[in-house]
Amino acid sequence: MAPAAASSSSAATRRVGGIILLLLAALAGTSSAQLSTGFYSNSCPGVHDAVKSVLQSAIAREQRMGASILRLFFHDCFVQGCDASLLLDDTPSFQGEKMATPNNGSVRGFEVIDAIKSAVEKACPGVVSCADILAIAARDSVVILGGPNWDVKLGRRDSTTASLTGANNNIPPPTSGLSNLTSLFAAQGLSQKDMVALSGAHTIGQARCTNFRAHVYNDTDIDAAFARTRQSGCPRTSGSGDNNLAPLDLQTPTVFENNYYKNLACKKGLLHSDQELFNGGSTDSQVQSYVSSQSAFFADFVTGMIKMGDITPLTGSNGEIRKNCRRIN
Ligand code: HEM
Ligand SMILES: *[C@@H]1O[C@H](CO)[C@@H](O)[C@H](O)[C@H]1NC(C)=O
Ligand SMILES: *[C@@H]1O[C@H](CO)[C@@H](O)[C@H](O)[C@H]1NC(C)=O
Ligand SMILES: *[C@@H]1O[C@H](CO)[C@@H](O)[C@H](O)[C@H]1NC(C)=O
Repeated sequence: MAPAAASSSSAATRRVGGIILLLLAALAGTSSAQLSTGFYSNSCPGVHDAVKSVLQSAIAREQRMGASILRLFFHDCFVQGCDASLLLDDTPSFQGEKMATPNNGSVRGFEVIDAIKSAVEKACPGVVSCADILAIAARDSVVILGGPNWDVKLGRRDSTTASLTGANNNIPPPTSGLSNLTSLFAAQGLSQKDMVALSGAHTIGQARCTNFRAHVYNDTDIDAAFARTRQSGCPRTSGSGDNNLAPLDLQTPTVFENNYYKNLACKKGLLHSDQELFNGGSTDSQVQSYVSSQSAFFADFVTGMIKMGDITPLTGSNGEIRKNCRRIN
């Protein structure tokens, strides 16, 4: 009897252990479930008004700022999750992400995030994370420029670390082909469908000559007249005019609509990576569907933004609520 009892009790132990493992796996898989739209409804009910009013005046001053803020959220979430790691300044003893190739000389809007943080700290000191401020500000930017609205899940906390190599390796370069774009998004748990929908963010904002030069001079999947127009503002020789800007959506770079996809359909994508989405490959039909239906694009963009916002957040007692978004406490 003793051996039988021992073995049945160890079977019970194994069973309990198995259940605990399953619970742990379930918790790990749904860490984003700890985010909720009402996270600050008691602790900081004014957060939404504070973010929106600072952002509205910033975008009124400079329309491009909405695009720049939306991009900050993307570049933050693709590197160790949506944890405001992108916002940390370099110091002699701390290496941040701002000097990474996709960011250096390119990401902008940090002063606006600082101004939002000050307004939010005034309303409720020490409560709202910089990571959540980025998530709300990205959504508000889209709305202010005419795009879709959605409820932003909140409860992220701020990192005490950053990853320069993560920024260099995870954020897709504009030279990427379709398969690389797809795999870099897959590495973040985002589907190819999400990738095509989220790329619609390029219906607003600007790019530098250095990022579209090769496409407008050397690629053949580009409308010839459009290529000539863009060449005229972007000298062929690298080093000259590298920072000259051109709109990602040639007609309406401050309006969030489906015009980006209409441009792709007539070979007027500015970046090599943009035109890859409509180039005879497997994503052509999705691009075409967004050309015909702005509401289909908006619905999928919202789905993609919510999924992107769910990338490995710090929650609970992990991380911290930074006092100043540029440095750890
Ligand atoms: C699919 C892969 C993507 C690639 C290869 C890519 C690449 C780029 C590049 C090269 C620029 C121009 C930067 C410069 O020249 O300074 C840019 C701008 C921008 N990107 Fe992306 N991007 C991608 C996806 C996204 C996503 C998912 C979002 C947001 C949801 C986004 C939002 C933006 C915005 C709004 C701008 C304009 C920023 C401004 O005017 O300040 N991009 N992107
Ligand atoms: C960042 O950009 C600045 C100005 O364009 C340049 O001088 C510097 O070398 C760049 N740094 C890195 C690490 O690429
Ligand atoms: C695409 O991915 C392959 C394999 O990882 C890599 O060798 C190549 O350099 C990448 N190309 C671009 C343009 O990113
Ligand atoms: C175009 O391609 C040629 C041949 O590969 C290369 O030498 C040149 O630098 C490229 N030009 C641009 C503007 O990318």
